Amino acid sequence: MDTIYITGGRPLAGTLAVQGSKNAVLPILAATAAIPGRFVLGNIPSIEDVRVTRALLEGLGLQLCALEDQITVDSRGPIRSAPDPELAGRLRSSVLLLGALLARLGRAEIPLPGGCVLGERPLDLHLAALKSLGVRVRLEEKRLLCTGRPKGGTVILPYPSVGATENLILAALGASGPVRLIGAAREPEIQDLADFLTACGAKLSGAGTPCLRIEPAPLQGAEHRILPDRMEAASWLCAAAATGGTLRLTDLCPDQLCPVLHVLRQAGCEIQAGEHDLTLRAASLHAPGAIVTGPYPAFPTDAQATVMAALLRASGSTLFRETVFADRFRHVPALCAMGARIETAGDLARVRGVPALHGAEVRATDLRGAAATVIAALAAEGKSVIHDAWHLDRGYGHFIERLQLLGAEAFAE
Ligand code: EPZ
Repeated sequence: MDTIYITGGRPLAGTLAVQGSKNAVLPILAATAAIPGRFVLGNIPSIEDVRVTRALLEGLGLQLCALEDQITVDSRGPIRSAPDPELAGRLRSSVLLLGALLARLGRAEIPLPGGCVLGERPLDLHLAALKSLGVRVRLEEKRLLCTGRPKGGTVILPYPSVGATENLILAALGASGPVRLIGAAREPEIQDLADFLTACGAKLSGAGTPCLRIEPAPLQGAEHRILPDRMEAASWLCAAAATGGTLRLTDLCPDQLCPVLHVLRQAGCEIQAGEHDLTLRAASLHAPGAIVTGPYPAFPTDAQATVMAALLRASGSTLFRETVFADRFRHVPALCAMGARIETAGDLARVRGVPALHGAEVRATDLRGAAATVIAALAAEGKSVIHDAWHLDRGYGHFIERLQLLGAEAFAE
């Protein structure tokens, strides 16, 4: 998708099954490079980041076959230690191959990863943790050269980085002794990775807590169904809330969305949640109180932009504080071009509700910012044109079809 055309002002209504989680499938695909075996993965989302990761793994020598929402992986043959630089440069999560290749080969040559532009995306936490397990790290001009099989030991993460936690778990699979990870991230996607690795025979305990322990164990292939995507679910809920609609979502885990559901309820939405489904009925919204993002189980940074878009017409004002990424208000200019009243200063953004939004021609800036821009266009009166809509392809499968299914007047070219 390059450009999306939306005529706003219509409430969204209908039922959607939530896709498999982008942020769960990417580390699990990387993990197949760490373990010689045959894997069958279900509930795979149809998104660009998965397509790029598949190409990266095939370039390393793994055999992959995709059929509808299933991928089979055969990693029993010899594999290379250096992923394709151009492909790896397109995806920040390619850095997860670092841990997987160190576990499998004791060597990894990883190009410095690309991907989301969300301020500075350093790797210092990943590298310091790997070094503390005896891995030798050499930073060359455009790549990281890491050698040495990780040793057992205790690693302290000063910040619960999701990627660093996942990289350390993957590296620990090949460690010569038990690895303890203190200060680990607790996101549901990490728990899904742990469930997958346990099915492969890993001796891993503490997933979902700040203290993880991984012990050496023989590993083999496994089957696994990917966790539902809580961020895709949040995006659709915000679209229904912004347009005064009614939405039923199935195949999700509402418990993993508590902070987002709490804010939407505080803003006036009626939400009924079952174990694996959820119905939202929107009303006229009012400001829900301050929103501060943070590591799980705090309010998720990946829902900051989409919830902001849902509240643009809420009466009163909402203060957002973004504590996870340095530059995650890049979507604000596009929302203001549609008539939103938003002021930003450093990690703070204040949204003052306006009675109406109007269509505009704008440019998307990143994955979740693009979703927020679509949500604002759906709530705006008149036509909007959103350029660089390809950002959405990275994390939202069949996006336009699903929008149209909910009654939106939208098309893409
Ligand atoms: C993961 O990114 C997710 N991506 C992100 O989702 C998500 O926003 C983020 O976690 C936080 O929840 C995937 O899972 C593929 P971090 P990751 O390491 O691992 C700093 C989306 O929209 N940091 O937890 O890169 C970093 O700069 C994407 O789906 C260091 O300083 O996030 C950031 O400020 C966007 N040094 C903070 O920590 C490091 O070595 C959180 O980063 C690593 C990170």
